[in-house]
Order: sequence, then C-alpha cells, then structure tokens
Amino acid sequence: MNDLLIQNIKELILPKSTDRPLKGKELDELNIVENGTVVVKDGKIVYSGPYTEEYDAEETIDATGKVVSPALIDAHTHLVHGGSREQEMALKRQGVSYLDILKQGGGILSTVKATREATEEELFKKAEYNLLTMIHHGVLGVESKSGYGLDKETELKQLRVSRQLADKYQLDMKHTFLGPHAVPKEAASGESFMQEMIDFLPEVKDYADFADVFCETGVFTIEESRRYMEAANALGLRVKIHADEIDPLGGLELAIEQNAISADHLVAASEEGKRQLHDSDTVAVLLPGTTFYLNKDKYADARGMIDNNGAVAIATDFNPGSCVTNNLQMVMAIAALKLKLSPNEIWNAVTVNAAKAIDLDAGTINAGDKANIVIWHAPNYQYIPYHYGVNHAEKVIKDGKVIV
Ligand code: NIG
Ligand code: FE
Repeated sequence: MNDLLIQNIKELILPKSTDRPLKGKELDELNIVENGTVVVKDGKIVYSGPYTEEYDAEETIDATGKVVSPALIDAHTHLVHGGSREQEMALKRQGVSYLDILKQGGGILSTVKATREATEEELFKKAEYNLLTMIHHGVLGVESKSGYGLDKETELKQLRVSRQLADKYQLDMKHTFLGPHAVPKEAASGESFMQEMIDFLPEVKDYADFADVFCETGVFTIEESRRYMEAANALGLRVKIHADEIDPLGGLELAIEQNAISADHLVAASEEGKRQLHDSDTVAVLLPGTTFYLNKDKYADARGMIDNNGAVAIATDFNPGSCVTNNLQMVMAIAALKLKLSPNEIWNAVTVNAAKAIDLDAGTINAGDKANIVIWHAPNYQYIPYHYGVNHAEKVIKDGKVIV
C-alpha cells in the first residue's frame, strides 16, 4: 500500500530531472500537467503525472483547484546571524550607500559584532525561527553561510549552528564558509586577513560544503579572491563567490575560471563574463530581492545571461542588511517584474537550478525522487509570483509527510 495520494491536482509542476543545470532556452521548458496525480511511498515519489485511479494509499489529499510543485530551494542565505540593522533604514533614506555604511564600521561589521557577542543558543534560536518561516513558505532546501564572525571561533560557531539546524529538522542544507566577507577592524590589512582565512581552510573543510568570498571594491580584490579560491579548490572544497554585486570587477570571469559551483549577485557583471557563461555550468544565482532592498534601479541582466546560454537560479540572499526577507515567493515576484523572467524560468530557477547551485539532489518530483512537495493555494502556477508579498504555501510535505 502507498502512503499518500494527492489527487485532482489542477496544475502539477514537474521540472525536468537533469544532471546538469538547465541552461539558456532549457530554462523556459517546464512540464505542467493539468489534472494531475502524485503517489508517495516510503518518502519517495512512486508516480507523478496525469490523473490516474490506478493507485491506492493510506491517505488521500484532494487538491482540487490547487497547484502542486516540488518544494522550493533557497540557494543563498545568511541564515545564522546575530542582531538586526533597522537603524540603517534612516541612513538609506538619507542616501548613504551600502559600501559607505560598511566603511563607517556599520553594515556587515555591525552584524559581526552582534554575532560575536551572541551565544550559540541565541544564534540557534534566531536562525531556527527564520528557518521555520522559510519552511512554512515552501522551502525545504537551504544554503546557509557563515561570514559574520571574521574570526575562527565565531565562524565555526555559525557553521555549527547551521549544522545543528540541519540535524534537528533533517533538512537538505548546505553549509558555506564565508570567512572573507569583510575585513575586520583588528586586521592589519585585507591581504593579511585573506591569508589568515586561506590558512584556516583545511580546518573549515570538516564543517563546510563550500567556500565563498565577497569580491568587491573596498572588500576583497580579484587577486585576493583568486588566491582563496585556488586554495579551496586545491583542498577539494568547491567555491562560490559574491561577484560583481556593485562594481564590475570581473568576478563572474573569475568564478568561471575557478569552476565555481555558483557566482552570485552579478548585477554589474561584464558582457565578457556573461558570454563565458555559454560554455560553463557555473550557476548564476541572481538575488533581485537585494537590488530591491538596496534601492537600486539596475538589476542583474538575467535576460542577457539566458540569451548567452547561461544557467540561472534565483534566491533570497536573506541577511540582516542588504535583503531582509526570507520569503522566496516574494523574490519570485521581483524576478518576474525586474529580471523579466517567465513563470517557467522562475519555477526552474527556484527548484532544479537552485538545487544545482548548491549541489543538492532535490528540486524535482519525478518517480524515484524524494517526496518534498508543496501544495499551493493558487489557481495556477503563474499566480504565485503574481500575488506578491504573502504566503501561498498551503501544505508542505517533507519526505512524504505533511509537516505544515
Ligand atoms: O550577499 N554582499 C555581501 N554580503 C551580503 C550582505 C551582508 C550584509 O549586508 O550583512 C549580500 O548581500
Ligand atoms: Fe549574500
């Protein structure tokens, strides 16, 4: 006997199972089954496709009028952090830029202070609350970065909290070391701090799945970032990079050169970098919620990247400064309006391609896949990015069990 039958699904969203990220035109290909059925046994999908009465199950959910999709994946978050920065809203209103706030010792550095001061339990509680909000919004795959310690002890504290959360909720999580996220006040120079982070990598390797760096004007240079990425790669730790967020430094080209699993932000990516996406499987993780929250007019050139046969994913970038939302559905709406992504592209970007960006075996619900499923209170799949700012996830099913 099967465990669960989801019947009469108005629209069943079935992204394609693939070994590589979806690139270029493939991003617009999405199988939408009208009047669908999903069958689950032992936490796995037995069947997903057109309506059938062939299967029995212990429990049946009637999804008449509803949309069903794989659970979403948030491929870029700074989930574990101390404190908050609502006072920066006033500075933003006065027109003080993000990098100027950082230069004055605020921004990332103020979260570093709060994160260093917080106990492991305090960090856990805060991150747990935010993680549960994400789960309620239909997210069952999460990438979680350190980067608010800028010292060994606090970076490891963040990574431990991240791993404890994954353990407690048995969640698909990937943990990313982002030691070179800013230059701490006590460092003699950016270069010496970078060396310290490089020397720390062998120890970090036991705690992290990826190594990330913030390559930006006034933070870390291309050369420093390259040394760090080379060192991580040499240890077998795959790299990610916060690249070309504000200034066009050539971060995307560096990501491709270093075979990064993803290059994130890319608002200011060069034409050459976008062209190089053509022959690369590095996923461009676009974070339009951040551009929105930083009050910028220019968004990442998602269309240009897709036209160049790039692989694109979207994520929240949830953090206490540049994007204070953990509602990925909201970011799907911004992606529709500002990145000009089609509904098909958006759904692929938050499921299968988001999974590829963090090397997760998730994002699809074809036969044999893990049964991580969302039932949406929405009349069609285009509705979710359309009706923005609120939660449309009605039921969240993890490993075949309804958990929300
Ligand atoms: O991805 N840009 C660098 N890091 C984060 C922001 C962190 C913060 O402001 O606290 C980001 O936007
Ligand atoms: Fe980020």
